[in-house]
Amino acid sequence: MKLLIPCASGLESTVKRQLNHLGYDGKANNGRIAVEGTMQDVARLNVFLRSGERVLIELASFKATTFDELYENVHAVAWEDWLTPHSKILIDGKASSSTLGAIKAAGGVVKKAIVKRLIERFHLSSPRLDESRERFIVGCSIRNDEVSVTIDTSGDGLHKRGYRTLPYTAPLKETTAAALIDMTYYHPDKALCDLFCGSGTIPIEAAMRSLKIAPGMNRTFDFQFWKHTDQTCLALAKEEAKDAVVNRKLDILASDVDPKAISIAQRHAKQAGVERHIRFRVADMRAFSSDQSYGILLSNPPYGERLSDAESVKILYHDFGKVYKSLDEWSAYILTGLPEADRFFGKRADKMKKLWNANIECGFYSFLGSPPPKDNKKE
Ligand SMILES: C[S@@+](CC[C@H](N)C(=O)[O-])C[C@H]1O[C@@H](n2cnc3c(N)ncnc32)[C@H](O)[C@@H]1O
Repeated sequence: MKLLIPCASGLESTVKRQLNHLGYDGKANNGRIAVEGTMQDVARLNVFLRSGERVLIELASFKATTFDELYENVHAVAWEDWLTPHSKILIDGKASSSTLGAIKAAGGVVKKAIVKRLIERFHLSSPRLDESRERFIVGCSIRNDEVSVTIDTSGDGLHKRGYRTLPYTAPLKETTAAALIDMTYYHPDKALCDLFCGSGTIPIEAAMRSLKIAPGMNRTFDFQFWKHTDQTCLALAKEEAKDAVVNRKLDILASDVDPKAISIAQRHAKQAGVERHIRFRVADMRAFSSDQSYGILLSNPPYGERLSDAESVKILYHDFGKVYKSLDEWSAYILTGLPEADRFFGKRADKMKKLWNANIECGFYSFLGSPPPKDNKKE
């Protein structure tokens, strides 16, 4: 089967590397990475992948410029191999640069073709399905008149690990936080400090990664409720995940000036099973110092989106630059939507990568110290 893994713009190469690490050779195309796999791979990818958004199975791909072509090609798919007469069908449509740009109408055609096929194959007398049971999110993505029809095995996005239950302003997506960690020099033997930790996403994801806790270990996925799914696939993947967990000493600091943030971060860390591996502190980042070497500062500080905040954010970034300057051989990584943010640091960034965070175009700025010595190679 062809499996497709959508990922946030700018994270394709990181997700490809994560796939490689799991033993898959992926090809990136238009924000989705394609790999070949079985239902066992579907289970593994859902459980282990840290930064992919979901795992889709592609059931058909074809060219269509008319609604008739779309209908015929979707009707030709063996939907009865996946759905039952009671499946709940939700259509997730996207179109760009295509003749069938009216995606609402295209979605209606896709649903009509699926329902018709199921009525025929199950010899149903009613012209409608009751749609009272397991969910199938059917994707119909049209780009340059090429249609890709998929079913979504994940259901809820893979950023939903299950540990983040309390609301907080502007939290980072778990999948993005995990990708940022992968883009740094971080090694579990060295310090990682998020001095603007908010609800704790970066420190929690860093701890989970270091302890090899699979992100999907404690959640459900839509495919496990599908009638034709072999339940041993998910059981085996979760078993593999349990066996992979390691215990090691970590040096991770989560601090924030807001006491409410720290209490939320602590709760989330507890729910993720990593609370005892993270030190929590209510503190202004200006008070931070360390006599260690080769640590990592990794944060997404406030962006100053409101005009009234812009000046104080520039001062904050300037002060953060000063804190960083006082640290020996540390690297600092900042995700921010503030344009040209490194102008305020007192040092230009060594690298800047464009990323999207919650529909805001951001820069991921890297200020590099020396890499840790060779015996601490990145894991
Ligand atoms: C964009 S939020 C971080 C969100 C976080 N990554 C998450 O996933 O929830 C920025 C955080 O910076 C904190 N902050 C602002 N000024 C600070 C300062 N001077 N020192 C420490 N934290 C500060 C805010 O309280 C807020 O929690």
